[in-house]
Amino acid sequence: MTTQITHMREEDIDGAIDTIQQAFAEDPYNNWFSTIRNRVSLGIRCRWGLQHALFYVAKDAASSTPDKVIGTAMWLPPSPPSAPRSWPLYLASWSLWLQQVRMNLYYGRGGLNTKRYWIWKAAQHEAQSGLWTDERGYYFCNIVTVLPECQGRGIGRALFEVVMRRADEEGVNCYLESSRAEPNMRIYERMGFKLAREMLCDDDGDAIKLFCMMREPKRRENNMQADEARI
Ligand SMILES: CC(C)(COP(=O)(O)OP(=O)(O)OC[C@H]1O[C@@H](n2cnc3c(N)ncnc32)[C@H](O)[C@@H]1OP(=O)(O)O)[C@@H](O)C(=O)NCCC(=O)NCCS
Repeated sequence: MTTQITHMREEDIDGAIDTIQQAFAEDPYNNWFSTIRNRVSLGIRCRWGLQHALFYVAKDAASSTPDKVIGTAMWLPPSPPSAPRSWPLYLASWSLWLQQVRMNLYYGRGGLNTKRYWIWKAAQHEAQSGLWTDERGYYFCNIVTVLPECQGRGIGRALFEVVMRRADEEGVNCYLESSRAEPNMRIYERMGFKLAREMLCDDDGDAIKLFCMMREPKRRENNMQADEARI
């Protein structure tokens, strides 16, 4: 397998949705929302990501289907936690929300469960307010998926490394919220993440836990040598 990581393009969205739906089919977070998000809802999210996120796809360049998306990752770029959200991002978030509500009204269940969405958002806000203390901000891995039949072959690592390398160069932390303890926490620990906090989303006793994990930047070899030379 020759894993190739490229920026997501409009024509990759369909394949990215396949990876998300298949990889999250048994996911506790998805089950809590009672449904696998439909293609329209995920398409809206992916198009938002094309404009506002660091969005990557993985393909196997040496296979007979070199254009097939086998994994995807959406990262939100860092910004100082104390800074207010920019107007374009603020408007884009509301536009995303309105599109999802319209989609829900049209399709009924099959989109987002709005009550639970707000429970999750409140828990996420509380967790991030407590953890995001570094003014350099955080590369936030918002979505990462690999097709079930391709998991365990280094594709997830390749999707992480493209951003972790950048984070290391810039001296910025990475952050994620894992919807599963097992095996995901062990996978993320292999990449240098550590459990920072558990996040409870509780809908009148029907609750799920998410696992907030943080990765500190690794100092690059040449930075270390320069530092040592100064000492
Ligand atoms: C989580 C996920 C993205 C990881 O991608 P992947 O391609 O399977 O992972 P990789 O093969 O690149 O493995 C990364 C590291 O974890 C290790 N690893 C992989 N599977 C593991 C497992 N089941 N248990 C322990 N370690 C594991 C690998 O050995 C590798 O470590 P190394 O590079 O130091 O040797 C993928 O499994 C997935 O899509 N899962 C379902 C959807 C999901 O849960 N997404 C994340 C929601 S938070």
